[in-house]
Amino acid sequence: MQHIISIGDFDRDAIDRLLDHAGQIDKKQFDAHALEGKILAVLFFEPSTRTRLSFESAIARLGGTSVSVGSMEACSMAKGETLADTIRVVSGYADAIVIRHPREGAARLAAEFSTVPVINAGDGAGQHPSQTLLDLYTIRQSMPIDGTDVALIGDLRYGRTAHSLASALSLYDVRLHTLCPTGLELPATLAERLAEKGMEIIAHDSIDEIIGDMDVLYVTRIQRERFPDSASYFNVTSSYRISPELLAGAKDNLIVLHPLPRVDEIDPRVDASPHAKYFEQSHNGVPVRMAMLMQVMQ
Ligand code: CP
Repeated sequence: MQHIISIGDFDRDAIDRLLDHAGQIDKKQFDAHALEGKILAVLFFEPSTRTRLSFESAIARLGGTSVSVGSMEACSMAKGETLADTIRVVSGYADAIVIRHPREGAARLAAEFSTVPVINAGDGAGQHPSQTLLDLYTIRQSMPIDGTDVALIGDLRYGRTAHSLASALSLYDVRLHTLCPTGLELPATLAERLAEKGMEIIAHDSIDEIIGDMDVLYVTRIQRERFPDSASYFNVTSSYRISPELLAGAKDNLIVLHPLPRVDEIDPRVDASPHAKYFEQSHNGVPVRMAMLMQVMQ
């Protein structure tokens, strides 16, 4: 039984194999009955559009079905049932569980009590490994990952997509550049771990000074829901915005990624630019999650 809780569950070869498989799926080279008769439990205790629907789409495209819970209020956790008991029960109803939870570490806890594979679809400010796999897949569609300069922009403290992606990029020959409002830097423990692995991490104050050298801009939303109060959130909103004027100074092959949803950090005028890859990125969630489901459910 294989759980996917953190991107650290993969080494580079395992990532590359999974992305190769997703590439075959993208070319329609897959068995549409591969997971016939299998049931995926989709437990989402935080809002989601992309992750939830693309996992549901992925299992359906492989011939399986899904059962789901969309909030704590909609299940017996509202009556006081623990996550552990919920998982013990649900693992008897399904062949795998995808879970999103506001608490960091919840997916790991779920894996301890599950008798079927658990996939972490986002645990608080922790990890979001399936997002990272589709992020890497999207980069690979435009350029080899090795040798790139990648800028992580936005909420690097609470942004789980940034945490998972930074960890994954440390497996490649990537120079990581960070830009964030003061107080929203990468967690020190993560930055230290990446540095120990030999990753070069360079912090910047202004995107204008580096735009001409970047291959990938990975832009993230300020994670409003993780702030202790609205005043501290409003202190850091609208700190940065990717605009066509900024991108005029970029390399021709620069790509702009965003896990979405966006708020105001990418000007909608960028959407028409050849640099904008974030909607393709969100669509890549289906083949990448199909490959993940085949890996853990077959
Ligand atoms: N990127 C991402 O996790 O989006 P959702 O919150 O819509 O699932």
